[in-house]
Amino acid sequence: MNIEASKKAFEAIIHEQITRVENLLKNTNAIDFSKQNKIIIGVVEGDGIGPQICIQTVKILKNLLKAETGESGKIEIRQIPGLTIENRKALGETLPQDSLAAIKECHVLLKGPTTTPQMGDSGKNLESANVALRKELDLFANVRPVRVPELGIDWTFFRENTEGSYAVGSKGIKVHEQISIDFCVTTQVGSERIARAAFEYANKTGKKRVTAVSKANIIKLTDGEFLQACRKVAADYPGITMDEKYVDIMAANLIDKDKQSGFEVMVMPNLYGDILTDEAAVIQGGVGTAGSANIGARYAMFEAIHGSAPDLIEQGLQRYANPSSMLRATVMLLNHIAYPDHAAKLEKALDKCQNLMDGTRGATNQEYVEQLLENLQ
Ligand code: IPM
Ligand code: MG
Repeated sequence: MNIEASKKAFEAIIHEQITRVENLLKNTNAIDFSKQNKIIIGVVEGDGIGPQICIQTVKILKNLLKAETGESGKIEIRQIPGLTIENRKALGETLPQDSLAAIKECHVLLKGPTTTPQMGDSGKNLESANVALRKELDLFANVRPVRVPELGIDWTFFRENTEGSYAVGSKGIKVHEQISIDFCVTTQVGSERIARAAFEYANKTGKKRVTAVSKANIIKLTDGEFLQACRKVAADYPGITMDEKYVDIMAANLIDKDKQSGFEVMVMPNLYGDILTDEAAVIQGGVGTAGSANIGARYAMFEAIHGSAPDLIEQGLQRYANPSSMLRATVMLLNHIAYPDHAAKLEKALDKCQNLMDGTRGATNQEYVEQLLENLQ
């Protein structure tokens, strides 16, 4: 690509982002689920171990929502087909139109992991379905709790989910045969709304500390804007202290026995949140144990924090794929749609049964879910 063509590509990205920010500035009101007559939960099974862990999770969800999905018809659990890597590759579409239209008819989604082709894989350079859905449905807050009571850890990560290094997805520009440039995008409105979500959560749950994570000493403009937005929002919450950490030392502090229990709520740009939450999940027992909520004003999507684990499928070990992460996400889904008692019931059963799965040494996911069902009563 020559310089002129690169400039054109960059110009297109600027226009796209300006349109996006203009839409963001037209505030959308959030749904009040306690007043909804009907709630549709869409299920996207995903790829690799996705179908396996989704099927197990849906068994639990149906059991918990027996009354609501029955006669009353208050809640519908609806299967969404077509969002598979095979179909996406065949159509050459990151989000097949039919699947996306079906998703948009739902209120919330329960989603299994989807496979993302890497640059250089054969075929078109498809963007991650996850990332595309987060942007398409404007799911700006990625909320990831991590709890390890015996270490005094009770963390909630607020990862900005639609901007930063993920904003422009697969539209980086190879400006020269030696030089590739990707983009990092930060908006004031986008940073302020994730900061507000973090502070609101801290305020509601009685937490006293919010840590803003960035690398604003080096990535001065985009991370600098993010940090400024956090400072601005913090001023509205005088009862909560905000401290600032650079992402490298934050990664170190999370595994530092003297410091880790001091953190409560953390807010950060997209990429840092991706990395730190995997690290944090391992302290809790592995990436298979942590759930993730992607929240926007209109839609919300609940998913595992891990990928589709094709290696487990290749080895024929999918029956040992741990559905805990999806089930933890289901706890968040139930809280989100205003069923806190059902959420608490599931959380209690999960805490009780959490050691049953242990790689190929422990229970299969089906056995594990049977145990959970017994403990839901
Ligand atoms: C996550 C995942 C995704 C991400 C992948 C699957 C695109 O790692 O939810 O953390 O990078 O955000
Ligand atoms: Mg990740």
